[in-house]
Amino acid sequence: MTDILQRPLEVSEIPLAPQMGRQEDYEPLPLRNLTVGQKVSFDVFLKILHKGQTMPQFVKCCDRGQVFEDEWHQKLRRLRIPWVYVSQKDGARVLRYLQHKLEEALADDTLDDLEKGALVCDTAHVWAGNFFTHEEARTREQVHLGRQLVDNLFEVIGSDQRNILHFLGLSRHKDMRLFTHCLNVCLLGIAFTSYLRWSPEKVRGFGLGALVHDIGLNRTPRAILEKKGKLTEEEMWEIRRHPLDGFRQVQTFIHLRWEALQMVLQHHENGDGTGYPAGLKLSSIHTWARILRILDSYDAMTAKRPWRPAMNPTEALWTMSSDWKRSNLFDLNYLKAFIKFLASR
Ligand SMILES: [Fe+2]
Repeated sequence: MTDILQRPLEVSEIPLAPQMGRQEDYEPLPLRNLTVGQKVSFDVFLKILHKGQTMPQFVKCCDRGQVFEDEWHQKLRRLRIPWVYVSQKDGARVLRYLQHKLEEALADDTLDDLEKGALVCDTAHVWAGNFFTHEEARTREQVHLGRQLVDNLFEVIGSDQRNILHFLGLSRHKDMRLFTHCLNVCLLGIAFTSYLRWSPEKVRGFGLGALVHDIGLNRTPRAILEKKGKLTEEEMWEIRRHPLDGFRQVQTFIHLRWEALQMVLQHHENGDGTGYPAGLKLSSIHTWARILRILDSYDAMTAKRPWRPAMNPTEALWTMSSDWKRSNLFDLNYLKAFIKFLASR
């Protein structure tokens, strides 16, 4: 059914936003990524809820190899639909298309940093989705591409750090997947370590570590990750294995710095020794992992979860400060610096 954009939408067809009626096999892609008047190299879908039904359907609106017409683009804009959907199976195809689009956009002087940054964030989101979802995508070349995207993010964020809240806002509108959280933490990490005046090389290294830090959760059953009630001992064991699992998956990639590997391995260690996998005390936890522990907690608290609403930033920072006072979970110096960093946005 590819004519949905060529005929008027019927009243019984309601286009849905990414957060509504989530389904595993499709990913949202902001409309700005499709080049009007050019062929798309993957199938494009709309998410439609038919009146009287509870589950949305993904209806193909443009076939792979078909030109994405200006008329369709205008129609979607008129209908205020800023999203299309792509099949997760097409991840590699979509990524190649976006890479090409991004190269052109970055060289285009008529686009500003916010427009370029939005395209980099979209491409990095698709990259992370592909890397987390498909084991065969975890290659040296893909890690190299991830590093290039982090470099691009560094360029667009680094030139004006006030942009960070805008970019975080972009990914907040997306369906909150595991890799969306990793992209958020990567963006926060690039902005925060730049604020700390780290060298560009260290900032980029930190950003890439943050982008893959939860890779070990890709084997954890979704039901456990989204469980609303208390986790059983066995479920907790499944969760607690992800730093070591993740470390094992990425330790051979030469593009990841040693410090970034420590981020993957130690980002759930607590300063008081109650964390996992090793129960390290603060002085034994790598600095990069201590910083990631703070950013990770902050992003997790300020994101909406199936079992609770999102906390606002002040509430999250207050909770983190009181957690520190109670049990020395975080590195106080970096926590204070992070609060100051957010206050200066
Ligand atoms: Fe984690």
